[in-house]
Amino acid sequence: MFGNAESYERFMGRWSRLMAPKLVEFSGLAAGSRVLDVGSGTGSLAFAVAGRDERAQVDGIDPSKEYVAFAAQRNRFAGRVRFQVGDAQNLGMPDGRFDAALSLLVFNFIPDERKALHEVRRVTRPGGRIAAAVWDYGEGMRMLRIFWEAAVAVDPEAGRLSEKAMKLCRQGELSALWKQAGLVNVREEPLEIATRFESFADYWDGFLLGQGTAGAYTVRLKHETQVALRNELKKRLQLRSEAEPFSLPARVWAVRGDVPFTA
Ligand SMILES: C[S@@+](CC[C@H](N)C(=O)[O-])C[C@H]1O[C@@H](n2cnc3c(N)ncnc32)[C@H](O)[C@@H]1O
Repeated sequence: MFGNAESYERFMGRWSRLMAPKLVEFSGLAAGSRVLDVGSGTGSLAFAVAGRDERAQVDGIDPSKEYVAFAAQRNRFAGRVRFQVGDAQNLGMPDGRFDAALSLLVFNFIPDERKALHEVRRVTRPGGRIAAAVWDYGEGMRMLRIFWEAAVAVDPEAGRLSEKAMKLCRQGELSALWKQAGLVNVREEPLEIATRFESFADYWDGFLLGQGTAGAYTVRLKHETQVALRNELKKRLQLRSEAEPFSLPARVWAVRGDVPFTA
């Protein structure tokens, strides 16, 4: 699902690059912070943090060796930004090492999100900030919402997968998790970008690259179901022609909270 960095960039990285600066701004990082990027993928968020503050230092961790290698290769902040293979559920880092931890489009993919947040809290110092964002699959991430609606219309099996992809993706779910983890000053907000496609192919071909839940689902389909899904999507997007450029809104729910000074 997350194994080919070039394909991820084409499918989703181009949108996470647009969202990353918005999450950095929302997180309200203090200048010169040591930051953990949880699920750093191909590096969008780590690079956005380092690009905004020349004193910031960022450690990115991600279980995908391929993504970590790709991010390291693109790293133009060597010395201040590092990437390593790791799992948010078991960070293996000292307590209180970071001033802040940020995470973009990751928490819904972590099998045990409570364990992960507990770990992230452990490695963030008292008073430090933890912020994350997840696509609003339920409504506001149209590119994926339309995809799953079309998939369910042509393949009833798709319903189960689409539900799984939607963990923590509705208003209030992330802030409930943050409060449950004992974080304070918790605030949740929607952040929005536009996903602009040059043509229908620019939209559809991304799913054929096998990345993320939707891509992994698409490449597993039998040829005739894939054709039916393609046709259903075209119908739902209501394009006059396949060559027509179009734009869809994409929203995340973003949350931030602080590690209390007392346990
Ligand atoms: C949609 S990508 C987001 C990547 C990047 N943050 C971005 O915004 O482009 C989801 C990422 O979560 C990572 N991931 C999945 N399970 C994880 C875990 N247990 N701990 C940390 N990262 C995880 C995946 O490897 C993948 O890179």
